[in-house]
Amino acid sequence: MGQTLSFFRKFFGDQMFAKPRGTDTYEDLTGRTFLVTGSNTGIGFALATHLARLQPAQLILAVRDRKKGETAKDSIIAQTGFKGALEVWELDMADFASVRRFAERANTNLKRLDGANLNAGINNWNWAMTADGWERMLQVNTLSTGLLALLLLPLLQATTKLDPPHPDTSKTAPHLTITGSAGMFLGKWVERSGANLLETLNSEAKCDLMSRYYTTKLFSWYLTRKIANLPQAKGVVVNVVDSNLCSSDIGRDLPLSPFAKWIVGKIC
Ligand SMILES: NC(=O)c1ccc[n+]([C@@H]2O[C@H](COP(=O)([O-])OP(=O)(O)OC[C@H]3O[C@@H](n4cnc5c(N)ncnc54)[C@H](OP(=O)(O)O)[C@@H]3O)[C@@H](O)[C@H]2O)c1
Repeated sequence: MGQTLSFFRKFFGDQMFAKPRGTDTYEDLTGRTFLVTGSNTGIGFALATHLARLQPAQLILAVRDRKKGETAKDSIIAQTGFKGALEVWELDMADFASVRRFAERANTNLKRLDGANLNAGINNWNWAMTADGWERMLQVNTLSTGLLALLLLPLLQATTKLDPPHPDTSKTAPHLTITGSAGMFLGKWVERSGANLLETLNSEAKCDLMSRYYTTKLFSWYLTRKIANLPQAKGVVVNVVDSNLCSSDIGRDLPLSPFAKWIVGKIC
């Protein structure tokens, strides 16, 4: 109870009074390459737009729907006048084969990777299984995010050994950044009592769907801590960021009352 109270105190304080640095943040990204998953809308789209303003050499929009990706690309170019290579690559985080294909494409085609922002995520209260046999939120938010992080790590590591892309640019460490959520502090994680954790998490009968999103975000955080300690992560900044509550499409599948939606709209 005490933990929940202190969470809400911090959450509302940050939500109402913290000032994001926003578009005045400036880093010299000349010659660098970035990718953002789930970048056709919401936070990923805002991040990709911000990166485009900083004019890296290459920016990859990793999206599950090419058409939505192309629309996002046009909008980013219109807003920022981005002059580099802006590419739309398909990636379905609910499909391990797609994650592997995406990573292989990156490892084969990219000469460097300065930032991988693993942002794609879902929140819904309906039980659904992927074709790979995992509860969907668990696969998208945690398992595939971890898999993609591990598969991209060698490329990020290799980038630490390269010279800065331009003599005048700084030697900045490559980043592997996962979009987390402070909601992880609210997770009850009732499935923890099962003997086989993943099997228990994957059982509809034992699943607490209302707090599943929080649980997947808590697991992504655990996972990121593990990944950060791997030898392959040496020299790479591995971190989790939290946006607090933002207006996005994340609640599209949640059966929120009009009043709840109104409140969310007011504080975002
Ligand atoms: N909004 C908030 O207040 C908030 C707070 C804390 C953390 N977050 C986190 O921020 C991240 C972005 O969320 P958002 O709020 O920006 O939500 P959003 O507007 O719904 O964006 C989610 C993005 O993830 C993509 N995505 C969903 N399932 C995917 C899949 N199977 N494969 C590939 N991409 C997939 C979506 O693509 P489609 O458009 O094709 O579905 C979309 O581009 C999430 O990780 C979320 O947990 C959000």
